[in-house]
Amino acid sequence: MFIEKLDVRPGITFDDVLILPNRSEVEPNQINLDTKVSKNVRLKIPIVSSSMDTVTESKMAIAMARNGGLGVIHRNMSMERQLEEVYEVKSSDELITRKMITTSPKEPTSLISDLMESENIGGIPVVDGKRLLGIVSKRDVRGVSGDKPVKEIMTKGVITAREDTTDEEAFEKMYDGRVERLPVVNEKDDLIGMITMHNIIERKKYLTAARDDEDRLVVGAAIGPFDMERAKRLDGEKTDVIVIDCAHAHNINVIKSAKKIKENVSADLIVGNIATADAAEELVDFVDGVRVGIGPGSICTTRVIAGVGVPQLTAVAGVTEVARRYGVPVIADGGIRYSGDIAKAISVGANCVMLGNLLAGTEESPGKPVTIKGRMYKQYRGMGSLGVMGETDRYASIGGTKFVPEGVEGAVPYRGPLSDIIFQLAGGLKSSMGYVGASNIEEMQEKARLIRITQNGAVESHPHDILITDEAPNYPYH
Ligand code: XMP
Repeated sequence: MFIEKLDVRPGITFDDVLILPNRSEVEPNQINLDTKVSKNVRLKIPIVSSSMDTVTESKMAIAMARNGGLGVIHRNMSMERQLEEVYEVKSSDELITRKMITTSPKEPTSLISDLMESENIGGIPVVDGKRLLGIVSKRDVRGVSGDKPVKEIMTKGVITAREDTTDEEAFEKMYDGRVERLPVVNEKDDLIGMITMHNIIERKKYLTAARDDEDRLVVGAAIGPFDMERAKRLDGEKTDVIVIDCAHAHNINVIKSAKKIKENVSADLIVGNIATADAAEELVDFVDGVRVGIGPGSICTTRVIAGVGVPQLTAVAGVTEVARRYGVPVIADGGIRYSGDIAKAISVGANCVMLGNLLAGTEESPGKPVTIKGRMYKQYRGMGSLGVMGETDRYASIGGTKFVPEGVEGAVPYRGPLSDIIFQLAGGLKSSMGYVGASNIEEMQEKARLIRITQNGAVESHPHDILITDEAPNYPYH
């Protein structure tokens, strides 16, 4: 019985295999990277930023969605703050800005010009209650005596738009009327929001952004396995995917709680982390997505501290065998170091990958910048590291205030804007799909075949016998 325990199949991870080149007529520029992160949320690229406090807050989530992916806002913050972070993302690229500063007709001009200066706004709508009376712009206040009431200087009869206005209609109205701002009103002339030329131009820049049915950027948010209240509030804030963030989701109490949460929210629910087909069997009949990975992450010590885990490609393939039967998308989470690893994860069935390390060094991550020996780095730490453990319940303390961490704290090189990294990762993936002859993610999952390599094969795969003098954007110094 005991000796048989050692008679096991090997667990395979990224560096153990390569994707076999295949007969192909697919050029990288014909490749479509559309995918699903969960049953009802589609992305334009199969990349998700991890719910870690040095990786994803609203700035990262906005950039991820604009680049076609998804950011999952971490939960190491108060519920109120997490709701605000989600709101930031959902409202960031909206055509109509709904939270805005207004003024009443009796306010003195001096107050309005100070406000415009301090908040850096060019025009403020003037309202009586909710009804729009006019708009006061920087031009209107210039050279006017400060004690004059706003109603005497405001522009009346302003051009307005209705809530169902499209980008093109709004642009034409503004262009024809030579205005920069378009108040949006209902049939009673009540002010609902504002469209600015700046909004329209910003939206045009991100034509391949991942958006919801109402054209807002998509966003995810992490919750603890038992946090029903947070789940409901995030759902109310129109979070697209709620991610139950747990080191071991194949835990009966976690599964029971996840089922209850699913019954109470309309957002898609992703549950993780798991690493076996057995775990998947217990989740797939109610979840909208599964997150796979126990211990592959660059900051994880679970496999050495607890001696537990499954090499990542075996974990992903095992879970996919089950998830696929139920139409549940799979996220391969952790351990990805190169674009080729993304291709390998998709080859064994993943619909998306979740990244921590590769994104932690970008401009948009919330990690603290640090300089070490003249080079810029950003802080990156495991969510099960000592620094985080006292602040969150992801990894429970085993007694009192002493913790047994399952992650480390450190720093990764600063990598500039996220869009540059995404460009390289998506480009590398497309290149891989070109070798395989796959024009979309489903075809990659079906067609890609893998070959097992030796340690020597892995050494041969990397640059060798050269002193690299110029760092490639997709192959950083080691
Ligand atoms: P990468 O390799 O992209 O992995 O840095 C990120 C993923 O690692 C997981 N994670 C942890 N796992 N201890 C762990 O065992 C930790 O402290 C820890 N923090 C994050 C998580 O799934 C993340 O997406």
